[in-house]
Amino acid sequence: MRTIFHVVLAAFGALIGAGALTLPAYAAGDVDQGAKAFRVCAACHSLGTDVNMTGPSLAGIWGRKAGRLKSFDRYSPSLKSSGVVWDQKTLDAWLQSPAAFMPGNNMKFAGIPDARPRADLIAFLEEASTGHIRLPTAMTAPPFEDLKKQGADHQVEAIRYCRDTYRVTTADGQTSDFWEANLRFKTDSSDTGPLPGKPVIMPAGMMGDRGSVFFAAPDEISKFIKHQC
Ligand code: HEC
Repeated sequence: MRTIFHVVLAAFGALIGAGALTLPAYAAGDVDQGAKAFRVCAACHSLGTDVNMTGPSLAGIWGRKAGRLKSFDRYSPSLKSSGVVWDQKTLDAWLQSPAAFMPGNNMKFAGIPDARPRADLIAFLEEASTGHIRLPTAMTAPPFEDLKKQGADHQVEAIRYCRDTYRVTTADGQTSDFWEANLRFKTDSSDTGPLPGKPVIMPAGMMGDRGSVFFAAPDEISKFIKHQC
């Protein structure tokens, strides 16, 4: 009895595996719709070669082994050791539910429950990552402006810290006060990051009361900030 049940299941599995049941949705994949759907992915993924963000670059993802982009350092052990090769079938299962397809992975994305938008997205990913369509610069360029090219009002000359306040002096001679909870210190080691010893302040949020100071390396941060009341 058990054996017969298993045989039936296996046949059913083979049918799904061959794409016989899911093929209509795949076949209908609309590349333009997929490009629009990619917006949610673009928060974390670029299609530029080796442009890594929260997630790895998806340039050339089609046919690539999972977790193997050499320039990306943040793969989870489960993605790296999965043995998955990215194609229509594996991408469909991954995008439906990353957590169910690959437990322990690091992609903070719930999944796309409907087959149609998944098929569109996969059609787009195939075309985009095999170079069949020209992509807008926004999908391939580095995610941030070049911090080396910012004006004097962004170049930080000094940061003083007193009680709960950072006083940031920029190269244009201006000093701005920030409540300590509103100023973030970050590093950017990428090609578009600041020069060593030349931190850059960028506004954050809509109100103008928050900012991020970018340093070239973490050891610069506490050296740069002087306690002074
Ligand atoms: C919140 C950020 C985030 C979003 C949104 C996101 N991803 Fe990811 N993605 C990641 C991270 C981080 C990883 C690496 C996961 C790991 O190592 O476990 C990843 C991995 C991947 C991989 C495997 C890459 C490889 O080199 O093996 C693919 C394919 C992928 N994402 C596609 C997508 C698509 C398509 C979307 C949009 C539907 C999307 N992701 C949305 C962060 C995100």
